[in-house]
Amino acid sequence: MNTDNISPALGWDDVYIVTTRDGSETLFSRAHEATYHSLFGAVAESKHVFIQYGLQTQRGRPDIRILEFGFGTGLNAFLAYLFALKMEKEVNYTGIEAFPIDPKVAKKLDYPHYLAFPEERDIFDRMHSESEFASGPFHFQKISGHPAPGPSAVYDCIFFDAFAPGAQPELWEQSMFDNLFRLTSPGGCLVTYCAQGEARRRMVAAGYTVERIPGPPGKREMLRAVKTLEPVSS
Ligand SMILES: C[S@@+](CC[C@H](N)C(=O)[O-])C[C@H]1O[C@@H](n2cnc3c(N)ncnc32)[C@H](O)[C@@H]1O
Repeated sequence: MNTDNISPALGWDDVYIVTTRDGSETLFSRAHEATYHSLFGAVAESKHVFIQYGLQTQRGRPDIRILEFGFGTGLNAFLAYLFALKMEKEVNYTGIEAFPIDPKVAKKLDYPHYLAFPEERDIFDRMHSESEFASGPFHFQKISGHPAPGPSAVYDCIFFDAFAPGAQPELWEQSMFDNLFRLTSPGGCLVTYCAQGEARRRMVAAGYTVERIPGPPGKREMLRAVKTLEPVSS
């Protein structure tokens, strides 16, 4: 991997910790003026959007390939790891991150403790200090860089977790969803906390069948886009 374009890790000058309503913590990015998760509950949001309405819906597959756009704190990646352990299912996770956080910042968040898996702290730490490893049924890979090199594989579940369209409009353009559609396997899905009409229209234009589903605490709706097996006639 070309490491020339990797930004310096974000430290305490770039981010600070915020406690959200379910008691779990998240980060506030000074540069993007945005939090990494919902203030109504970081863990509640991740479990609802990405695990319940994303990963769980693909559990019929013998193994599941995840692509996350915006690895961030590693919370979604760690929840995917816990899912793999619980379901005894092979999960291949690839996270893309332009601005990795300093592993010391990640340690402070201590999601393994909040999620009552302190014995899995080493895995969470490795997600921040290593770019690839395997543990049991879980295979982890992180692609860092800005711009991050595009993945070329196909994925069953895409966690689309960029900052909101208002903060980073360039990540919600048509070309993004066209690319992600090409990277989605037949029957695979893309999930996001965002319910914005324009984002939904772009997902539809890319080829996805998109549903609005109930959102996590504090949000009425979120979007789930599926690459349907058969072409849909409109
Ligand atoms: C909402 S946060 C993601 C939260 C993350 N999924 C988690 O579980 O903590 C958005 C993430 O997208 C990253 N990001 C911003 N611009 C990006 C880009 N152009 N390519 C890849 N990642 C980017 C940010 O650095 C940040 O980590």
